Amino acid sequence: MSEPTLKVKVWRGTEQGEFVEYLVPRNSNQTVLDVVTFIQRKLDPTLSYRFACRVGMCGSCAMTVNGVARWTCRTHVAKIVEGDSLEIAPLNNLPVIKDLATDMREFFNKWKGAVGFFQGEQTRYDDFAKVRPDSEERQLANAGIECIGCAVCYASCDVVASRSNYLGPAALNRAWTLTNDVRDVQQLDRLRAVAGDAGCHTCHTHGSCTERCPKQLAPTAGISGLKKLVARAAVRGTKWGKL
Ligand code: SF4
Ligand code: SF4
Ligand code: FES
Repeated sequence: MSEPTLKVKVWRGTEQGEFVEYLVPRNSNQTVLDVVTFIQRKLDPTLSYRFACRVGMCGSCAMTVNGVARWTCRTHVAKIVEGDSLEIAPLNNLPVIKDLATDMREFFNKWKGAVGFFQGEQTRYDDFAKVRPDSEERQLANAGIECIGCAVCYASCDVVASRSNYLGPAALNRAWTLTNDVRDVQQLDRLRAVAGDAGCHTCHTHGSCTERCPKQLAPTAGISGLKKLVARAAVRGTKWGKL
């Protein structure tokens, strides 16, 4: 009896390119990343793709699988295969470098644009900051902190697709997390950054980011939190003075 086989269409090329079909042996526990790795190691070593940890920590292996953005190292073929077919493409909303590898610069530049990086004011000589685990700020920060930067949310966002300057769910989720970090000293700059034309008010709240995030984070909730903060600052008026 012949071995069960998957028919796998894989995007080859850059923005211009085509799907090429490969036949891959099927087994019960394989992930989509296993399939791509099999193709690259056994069938075509010129296939480009990206991964590192294989355990859902680094965020580098996301691709579009049967039309949906997913982390491929934690996506089992058996759960998403349609008959015996898979279609694997690069993430949407990002430039394609080659085959399944996208250029992530724009994605991470937007984190910078949202002031999505920590800056404290303590030195090594100061005592550790004490943040109560049950404080409201800590709880709110915890809710978004496990982001692995995979860009699944970004690739799933229709607003990013139509407005290329929109900061997007991951950068805004990071901004919200840091907004709730009581040690960070850039709160006003961050609020200004997310209040702008490309910021939180551009979100349509339809929730694809939250539905797709493989870490079960809720960028939509964080974006709503930012909207409230911006509104509160506007009501209090005034030059974005005290928040
Ligand atoms: S909720 Fe906002 S950020 Fe998330 S996918 Fe929709 S428009 Fe994009
Ligand atoms: S919010 Fe979720 S989907 Fe978006 S980059 Fe972070 S982990 Fe990935
Ligand atoms: S390879 Fe690291 S998250 Fe998939």
